[in-house]
Amino acid sequence: MSTIETKETARTTNSKLLEWVESAVALCKPDQVYWCNGSQEEYDHLCEQMVASGTFIRLNEAKRPNSFLCRSDPGDVARVEDSTYICSRRSEDAGPTNNWMAPDVMKAKLTALFDGCMRGRTMYVIPFSMGPIGSHIAHIGVEVTDSPYVVVNMRIMTRMGQKVLDVLGEDGSFVPCLHSVGAPLGDGRKDVSWPCNAEHKYIVHFPEERSIWSFGSGYGGNALLGKKCFALRIASTMARDEGWMAEHMLILGVEDPKGNKTYVAAAFPSACGKTNFAMLIPPEHFSDHKIWTIGDDIAWIKPGGDGRLYAINPEYGFFGVAPGTSYKSNPNAMESCRENSIFTNVALTDDGDVWWEGMTDAPPAHLIDWKGQDWTPDCGRPSSHANARFTAPAGQCPTIDPAWEDPNGVPISAFIFGGRRMTKVPLVFQAFNWSHGVYIASTMGSEMTAAAAGTLGKVRRDPFAMLPFCGYHMADYFNHWLNIGRHIPNPPRIFHVNWFRKDKDGNFMWPGFGENMRVLKWIVDRVHGGAYAVESPVGWMPRYEDLELNGLDFGFEKFSEVMEVDREAWKEEVLSHEELFLKLYDKLPKEFLHEFHLLLSRLTRSPNLWQHHQKMID
Ligand code: OXD
Ligand code: MN
Repeated sequence: MSTIETKETARTTNSKLLEWVESAVALCKPDQVYWCNGSQEEYDHLCEQMVASGTFIRLNEAKRPNSFLCRSDPGDVARVEDSTYICSRRSEDAGPTNNWMAPDVMKAKLTALFDGCMRGRTMYVIPFSMGPIGSHIAHIGVEVTDSPYVVVNMRIMTRMGQKVLDVLGEDGSFVPCLHSVGAPLGDGRKDVSWPCNAEHKYIVHFPEERSIWSFGSGYGGNALLGKKCFALRIASTMARDEGWMAEHMLILGVEDPKGNKTYVAAAFPSACGKTNFAMLIPPEHFSDHKIWTIGDDIAWIKPGGDGRLYAINPEYGFFGVAPGTSYKSNPNAMESCRENSIFTNVALTDDGDVWWEGMTDAPPAHLIDWKGQDWTPDCGRPSSHANARFTAPAGQCPTIDPAWEDPNGVPISAFIFGGRRMTKVPLVFQAFNWSHGVYIASTMGSEMTAAAAGTLGKVRRDPFAMLPFCGYHMADYFNHWLNIGRHIPNPPRIFHVNWFRKDKDGNFMWPGFGENMRVLKWIVDRVHGGAYAVESPVGWMPRYEDLELNGLDFGFEKFSEVMEVDREAWKEEVLSHEELFLKLYDKLPKEFLHEFHLLLSRLTRSPNLWQHHQKMID
């Protein structure tokens, strides 16, 4: 049975999959079941259906070909971390930084909510591959959902459809992902353009079973279950068990003038510009270098036979934050969503295109805002929601790396970590060794910008940018990282960057964006043993002459300020690491206590060779 008239729906003989779908049908009681084949025809048909139902607005074909605008319910606009659970059998396996409930208790709760939740709706079955189909680093999931919005977004964000079932075969394994917006029809209830459940939202992971149940929300990471739920939370537990890594990281390649490519993976907390960094355009001075994009959000990384780490981007598209994205800040992102894209919670222009804050210097004179209301520049409201998104095919990015679909992945030479730190933390430093690097990544954080009482300027620790995305005890995750380093002969070098340091007057010291290439160049040269560095208490740091600053108005004084390590301020910083460690104490790696004391003793006693050098040439 099918409501959508495409030539063919997908087929499988996988008995586990057939049984699971049958049980989902029995529980959710949809009116119809449709197996997605992933064809263009199917995608077009669902989009048309959503235009007819009022969920989608087709954008001006000349300005934004084959693209749509969608407005969500104003109460369903972002990931819901408070309602996100890791339901491992033992609470200590989820750890103190995750919400936990016993699996049987949670299952009972969810079963009651899912019972009949798809009445009056179609259940779509979406077979998808995270990673190039058939890659030994990739894994398959199947999402069952009652949201056609989810289907079309999943077709951009993952490889999806019949080809995945073909690889799954008769007895291949998959991660079952059950999703409902939690808004059954019937009994006089009318459908709305963005159905969701105002009362109950649950985003639940069962790590031992490797399954996901998501109820009540249709938005982003709550509903596109391949992304944060599978590719990070469930995959991180798979990776721990199987000896690989599932990371909240972008992957990019730096090509030098001789054509040599060096790949790096970088982790920054949400909303720190990962997409911009992944698509960086080198400044004029570096026009003989090129940056290639592999991914902007998630990396799956596996040790290869040669002792190096190889990474794939498990995703197929970008689910980028729209506000702030412009031809100035990120032309490659703008080109990626030029066509064949879906825009959620942005504004509609009078000529049928999209607009959001920061897209152009001057706003249009009139818009329809993300809530469907008239908007003018003086109305005092933003036109787009701060978490408005574009869903765009990664293959449309002008800098997409020719190797981005290589099933063997690309070799990673460096890991870069960073946060939003207005004070204390230098522009760039390199860890002394792997365990020092793991310590640095574990204690990274961002200063809170929200002016909620008492939080302004307070550092929120976000280890490895994984705090909301790790499917198990965070300290076990640190141990897993230490373990990976123990088993590879020449692990990637580890760096920390901070683009956000401010001067005494509150101005950002480092220009950011394309100029970050200068820091990246030093990192790549360090990896190849080319660039010089001097020891400071916090790590290896470039001297003024080691960073390529030609063509930039950035003198010695400024450099010294953006790189300064203030010992007293850093002692306070180190003491504040203890807050996180106390929380995780029962499983904290013993290496961390040593790193903690080594750092303190370097800050207290050892000479700061970097500062010494700076003074000599001052
Ligand atoms: C994202 C996030 O949406 O990290 O990528 O929140
Ligand atoms: Mn992210």
